[in-house]
Amino acid sequence: MDKLIITGGNRLDGEIRISGAKNSALPILAATLLADGPVTICNLPHLHDITTMIELFGRMGVQPVVDERLNVEVDPRSISSLVAPYELVKTMRASILVLGPMVAHFGYAEVALPGGCAIGTRPVDLHIRGLEAMGAQIEVEAGYIKARAPEGGLRGGHIFFDTVTVTGTENILMAATLAKGRTVIENAAREPEVVDLAHCLIAMGANIKGHGTDTIVVEGVERLGAARHSVMPDRIETGTYLVAAAATRGRVKLKDTDESILEAVLLKLEEAGAQIDTGKNWISLDMKGNRPKAINLRTAPYPAFPTDMQAQFVAMNAVAEGTGTVIETVFENRFMHCQEMNRMGAQILVEGNTSIITGVERLKGAPVMATDLRASASLVIAGLVAEGDTLVDRIYHIDRGYECIEEKLQSLGAIIRRVPA
Ligand code: EPU
Repeated sequence: MDKLIITGGNRLDGEIRISGAKNSALPILAATLLADGPVTICNLPHLHDITTMIELFGRMGVQPVVDERLNVEVDPRSISSLVAPYELVKTMRASILVLGPMVAHFGYAEVALPGGCAIGTRPVDLHIRGLEAMGAQIEVEAGYIKARAPEGGLRGGHIFFDTVTVTGTENILMAATLAKGRTVIENAAREPEVVDLAHCLIAMGANIKGHGTDTIVVEGVERLGAARHSVMPDRIETGTYLVAAAATRGRVKLKDTDESILEAVLLKLEEAGAQIDTGKNWISLDMKGNRPKAINLRTAPYPAFPTDMQAQFVAMNAVAEGTGTVIETVFENRFMHCQEMNRMGAQILVEGNTSIITGVERLKGAPVMATDLRASASLVIAGLVAEGDTLVDRIYHIDRGYECIEEKLQSLGAIIRRVPA
């Protein structure tokens, strides 16, 4: 297993480009299964999760074609299997996103039930109930969700989510585009990635209103067709580099990103003492050499503070001036990084869904273990502000969600290298 070795102490300083959003690219790739023609996706990030989705398509008989500009064209008409097998689903929970499109377009789908994961139990009951409300017959058998559309296809339905779910909203939104009649999704996720997916579906011919609000209304259409869509910038990658710069008292300019989808994060960085400037497609942060101030935050669905940025802010608080409280409300077990940071000399107390972080002047490099994608990113940030070498193990998590992380950090002046297993 590859490891990253980071020699801390350098302030980040420089300019990098932000990649396409993983959590937008995955549902958009799944959405191509709804089309009756080729759909071209641009600005796909080069990430392990994207490769896994492409591999899953290959198993189903759909071979995406990559052109010379790295755009990917998917034509689902060659589909020969409606099964998403466990060995792929267990490596990537987002495989569940093929469920809605397959039942809606092909009338049947068999998707392995994803298990629990390092951040919580993460059930998919709301995806299943939503499809049932559209007439699907669903059985969970031998670890697989087996879903069959009724005679004549899915029908529009009224779906109320009692918990805001991002991929749940995306699955039902995709299924509804080809269902007969109107579907209303209430308490829908408002995440920008849901909006990006809706834009792609609309380009394919779908009739969707209300995306970006908590009530999405979809009028089903007969068919969806060929389209071309460019994936939005990754707001979590953007936020991660901003926090890394803030923690190291540095400055960065991030290009090909969008400040309007990062409001809660930028507000917290300003509270920490950062000067933030924005322009068309770029964001810059400057700490003017100052130590960040500890901040308090509480995660919640968009537009509130994202759970996917929580670990990175814990890392910044670990070296900040003062004490900060971080409350995690989305996932029940997302503080694994805290114990690892304490091994580096951080002072973090975890009580249930709250962590109280008292900033120290400097962390000390140590071998640490990444437990999930965002926890890994936070340990890299901790390594950047630690004295000496930090060895981050199990970095396959990072490769699932951060394109070329060591090259990008190196170009900002960090000392970081990958050690192959
Ligand atoms: N939930 C249920 N039942 C369901 C679905 C969700 O109880 O059927 C609960 C979950 O257990 C959780 C809450 O609802 O407590 C919210 O989970 P959600 O369904 O929104 O999460 P997700 O769709 O599985 C996506 C992202 C995650 C991100 C969350 C929250 C993708 C592919 N994944 O997951 O991203 O943390 O939304 O914003 O979009 C990451 O990129 O590192 C990552 C984990």
